[in-house]
Amino acid sequence: MPGRFITLEGGDGSGKSTQSALLTQWLEAAGHTVEHSREPGGTPLGLELRDIILHRRGYMAPRAEALLYAADRAHNIATKVRPAIERGEIVIQDRYIDSSVAYQGAGRVLDATEIRDLSLWASEGLLPDLTILLDLDPTVGRGRLEGKKYDRLEAEALDFHQRVREGYLALAAAEPDRFLVLPATDSIDAIAERIRERVQPLL
Ligand code: TMP
Repeated sequence: MPGRFITLEGGDGSGKSTQSALLTQWLEAAGHTVEHSREPGGTPLGLELRDIILHRRGYMAPRAEALLYAADRAHNIATKVRPAIERGEIVIQDRYIDSSVAYQGAGRVLDATEIRDLSLWASEGLLPDLTILLDLDPTVGRGRLEGKKYDRLEAEALDFHQRVREGYLALAAAEPDRFLVLPATDSIDAIAERIRERVQPLL
């Protein structure tokens, strides 16, 4: 496809939105057209799904949660991301399939292969050209969220977030060509520089 698809992954508080904003600025300054998206909630329908997934009170069955993320993904990819890539744009997205494999697979202990297949069905097989994983010890991530009201996933216990972190690292180890893993505790500028170095050859 003519454009590029770059995703950012990592635990809550790892700095994904800061880095996607900096990367977007840098690419736009170099004359590229950038479409920013995020999951859940990259589209108007997705925003409604995001509200249900993260803020609806009470128990939600893990498979229902997985399907809601997949529904958000299907709509985001079909109506926003794929058209932008087909127009030759660079799509930068906070969270994608790897979030589902890490959170619903490793975190909720659903079958990782089934979760990945569900996501690939939802997205009609779209994989990122590059995935940046901002790796962070969840005890540090929680500190960064201090004062913020926790959503349903953030409210999960520490061992859930430890499993998510391990899940992410296993994904990155299995696909070293697609992943760039950076310690989220490095400075904002140092992380941004490493990301630019890795993105440059894709342009
Ligand atoms: P955000 O606050 O970073 O936008 O993400 C919302 C939460 O949703 C975050 O705790 C991670 C979680 N999540 C999943 O559990 N599965 C997914 O597929 C995605 C995209 C996010």
